[in-house]
Amino acid sequence: MKKSINAMYFSATGTTKTIVCCIADTMLKSLGLRELGKNIDFTLPIAREAAVSFSQEDIVIVGVPVYAGRVPNVLLAFLNRLNGNGAWAIPVVVYGNRDYDDALIELRDILIARGFTAIAGAAFIGEHSFSKVLAENRPDGKDMDIARVFANQICRKI
Ligand SMILES: Cc1cc2nc3c(=O)[nH]c(=O)nc-3n(C[C@H](O)[C@H](O)[C@H](O)COP(=O)(O)O)c2cc1C
Repeated sequence: MKKSINAMYFSATGTTKTIVCCIADTMLKSLGLRELGKNIDFTLPIAREAAVSFSQEDIVIVGVPVYAGRVPNVLLAFLNRLNGNGAWAIPVVVYGNRDYDDALIELRDILIARGFTAIAGAAFIGEHSFSKVLAENRPDGKDMDIARVFANQICRKI
């Protein structure tokens, strides 16, 4: 039985954090759990120095933005030191409404290689960090509704 919901995200302009935290909060409520296990914001380099480990009891929502259609390469050294140890992972990518290309697959593959089982995955749109026009004000209310539906679908599945 999985007992703990955990959130991890890199989020320079906040949209990935918003989506990941919404999914985590919704799952907590849906599963009747009181609080998050780990809540790891790895945006700053200091937060990426130590290797992070999970256990078989954990469900981990891992969110990154899409940079050039990929997982940001500055994160690869950190992500490739995660230890899943049988935890379940929910890879999430957030992109600026150009395309997320292979970023979700890439993140899923990294997590599987690090000992997680990927049980669900999603790509969401967030305001493009280069511009105030592309995907302006996303995620919006509809996006947040979709994030909550996604979280509840996962909870029904597990
Ligand atoms: C260097 C860089 C590259 C990006 N490349 C893409 C891309 O390939 N496709 C896309 O749709 N958005 C792209 N974006 C936009 C981000 O994915 C989008 O703004 C995301 O919501 C940012 O997440 P954050 O708010 O958590 O930092 C790029 C942003 C940056 C800074």
